[in-house]
Amino acid sequence: VHNIKVLKPKPSDIPGILTLVNSDSEHLIPRTKAEIRKKLTFWRIIKIERKVIACGCFERYSKRMAEVRSFIVHPEYRGKGYAKAILKNLLTQSQPGQRVFVVTSLPDFFKKNAFSAFLQEKYILFYH
Ligand SMILES: CC(C)(COP(=O)(O)OP(=O)(O)OC[C@H]1O[C@@H](n2cnc3c(N)ncnc32)[C@H](O)[C@@H]1OP(=O)(O)O)[C@@H](O)C(=O)NCCC(=O)NCCS
Repeated sequence: VHNIKVLKPKPSDIPGILTLVNSDSEHLIPRTKAEIRKKLTFWRIIKIERKVIACGCFERYSKRMAEVRSFIVHPEYRGKGYAKAILKNLLTQSQPGQRVFVVTSLPDFFKKNAFSAFLQEKYILFYH
């Protein structure tokens, strides 16, 4: 697809982001309006006919560590390169030497896009 425009969201886009992210509780941690609003400048979206059809956010933890979160393309718009475009734009926020990780059930997508296991023997484990 040509002319994919990745945008920084405006406050008026928050409901659209919220709907998209919270439509897939199987893959994504639910987010709240307040949470999105607080770090809105780190989010990126793609809109089609005024509807948010793709989004993701870059969560900076420190100079050395950051995460790609809430990364989703609306099911009807998948396979057209929108995810790739959002990811590329999100990663421009990383700084040299910073490790960017993702917690995902779709490792193959990220492996295709330059992510890899840091050390094969490391696992991410959640308490409770
Ligand atoms: C993962 C996701 C964002 C991909 O969206 P998409 O719009 O289909 O992706 P793109 O069209 O930009 O695909 C880019 C490339 O990744 C590949 N790809 C897409 N989904 C893939 C998958 N599930 N597994 C492996 N490769 C995949 C495409 O084939 C394409 O490869 P190419 O560049 O060689 O042609 C989408 O499937 C999604 O929203 N999933 C649910 C939410 C989720 O699990 N998010 C990740 C957790 S953070």
